[in-house]
Amino acid sequence: MKSDLRNIKIKNKEICQILQYRSKLLSNNTAITYKELGAGSHKLIAKEKKVKNIAKYSGSDERKGIFLYKMVKHFKPDIIIELGTSLGLGTFYMACADRNCPVITIEGNESVLDIAKNESKFQEFTNIQFILSNFDDILEIILMQNKNKKAFVFIDGNHNYTSTLKYFKLCLKHNIDESVIIIDDIHWSKDMDRAWKEIITFNRIKYSIDYFYSGLLHIGAKNKNNYIASF
Ligand SMILES: C[S@@+](CC[C@H](N)C(=O)[O-])C[C@H]1O[C@@H](n2cnc3c(N)ncnc32)[C@H](O)[C@@H]1O
Repeated sequence: MKSDLRNIKIKNKEICQILQYRSKLLSNNTAITYKELGAGSHKLIAKEKKVKNIAKYSGSDERKGIFLYKMVKHFKPDIIIELGTSLGLGTFYMACADRNCPVITIEGNESVLDIAKNESKFQEFTNIQFILSNFDDILEIILMQNKNKKAFVFIDGNHNYTSTLKYFKLCLKHNIDESVIIIDDIHWSKDMDRAWKEIITFNRIKYSIDYFYSGLLHIGAKNKNNYIASF
């Protein structure tokens, strides 16, 4: 990487708004209908979950959020695609890194998506398109519609071997060189570990960086290298 990520300036006012939103979510005791989306299946098991627990266990925290924010600032994509909006925390970090860059975020759970949409209006985001869908039904269509753009894809849902490989291969098929894919939770399970190990062997990966909690893949032909970042 040419520029030092530590030198990327953060717009504190905007980040503060996202942090305030997360604090609000963390004290929200409302129970909402939440469907556990099965891996690669359309079988949905609906149950109730408290908003505060969804925010705590599934939403991006400040560390992850700032990471996404800096990555968007660094790579300057033409389009951002997120798989798994949840309450919109990761979405907002990426969207505020460049308010002129369109963000398409996909979520299969209407209850959380509605909360994210409302907050997006409150924070006056105009660059986010929220899509209620199973990833399996819409990802390829979205990738095809944006095929000549330098994409920044954040895969943050359906973390299992088969689906992760499937989404990655679709991105590789439709994304142009210099696009970036971030996969979350690459060491969350043996399954994800296996998926990551396989993914980094693909030829069109210019380089990969294993940040432990997530992995970055830069698409391109040259300089094949796999790095592991230590903290
Ligand atoms: C870890 S959360 C996303 C967190 C969010 N990206 C953030 O940064 O705060 C994963 C989300 O993906 C959604 N999801 C999982 N599998 C899905 C699928 N196959 N189709 C649509 N949504 C799915 C879940 O409902 C959940 O809200």
